[in-house]
Amino acid sequence: MTDAIEAHKNDFPIKGFHHIEFWVANAYQSAHYYRAIHGYEIAGYRGPETGTSETATYALRQGDVRLLFTSALEPDHEINDHVRRHGPGVRDVAIHVPDAAKALEMATSRGAKEAAPLQALQGDHGNWSVAAIHAYGDTIHSLVEDEALVWPPPDFRVRNDSLAQPIGLGHIDHVVANVELGAMDEWVEFYEQVFGFVLLRHFDDEAISTEYSALMSKVVWDGEGVIRLPINEPATGRKKSQIEEYLDFYGGSGVQHIAITTESLVETVAEARRRGMGLMSVPDSYYAEIPDRISAVPADIEIERLRELGILIDEDDGGILLQIFTRMMQDRPTFFYEFIERRGAMGFGEGNFKALFEAIERDQAARGNL
Ligand code: FE2
Repeated sequence: MTDAIEAHKNDFPIKGFHHIEFWVANAYQSAHYYRAIHGYEIAGYRGPETGTSETATYALRQGDVRLLFTSALEPDHEINDHVRRHGPGVRDVAIHVPDAAKALEMATSRGAKEAAPLQALQGDHGNWSVAAIHAYGDTIHSLVEDEALVWPPPDFRVRNDSLAQPIGLGHIDHVVANVELGAMDEWVEFYEQVFGFVLLRHFDDEAISTEYSALMSKVVWDGEGVIRLPINEPATGRKKSQIEEYLDFYGGSGVQHIAITTESLVETVAEARRRGMGLMSVPDSYYAEIPDRISAVPADIEIERLRELGILIDEDDGGILLQIFTRMMQDRPTFFYEFIERRGAMGFGEGNFKALFEAIERDQAARGNL
């Protein structure tokens, strides 16, 4: 690490993740799928009815998780080109900053490319100042400044959706990128250089490989724990790595998964399963090994209940974490979610990687891509 990068550590003021925007073919149906199955409230809308003629966007909220789903109403819109190439996917990992003008100036002076100039958005329920920079692939980071957290965005019509039924989702824990072979270090450097982030963890292909596929991963973070960004690249395995499969079907680098916290993963998953959410299956053998792998399973956690629900458990120096991964959110094998309950553990479920990858590979084999 050079002195220049050292000097930048943690000097970029950031409040956390602000929201995630997806570009999709049918924002209306996406919003209703997320409402019915994932329990989000539809908090706002912007489209032709509110004076925006080219696009329709739904603003969703659950706990501190804020999502936008946007589709284009005209054939030649850039959103349709994005959807054609990538399928439905994450366009924007928006970051909450105290000063958007200063954030844009700092980021571009350190090598980031501007994706959208500074803009003031005003509405009856609040104001934003927002700009954007380019990140990996076609992904951008909006830099959003708003005094009290304004949601939906200021130019949206607010909706009252009091009948929505949440499943206990809290906030975004981490957002994971898949990048091309050899690009991981470049993007780690980008986040160190531009945002002053630091390397939190490094997993080499020895640590997270199975017989069939492998990946390498580095996690950068802001040092405070409000932003954690793992960056994966494929490593050579005997068969096609899940990261390569992603890159093939997404058509390049992009967001692979978003991890969202819950205070009770057992309750969240029981309800998600009841609603028909697709969740990854875990081999029974995984649960037989828990007593050997975890030194102290908390008294309120029954291994049999974890097995029924397909929940994974891991332990590190800080404590325990429970996690589960959804199936793909679309027909292309690209984007999925993780739900995570942290009980002191600060890791990412490293001890689960092998069990998880074996499960991923079973699904990959079923699609004929292994
Ligand atoms: Fe994760």
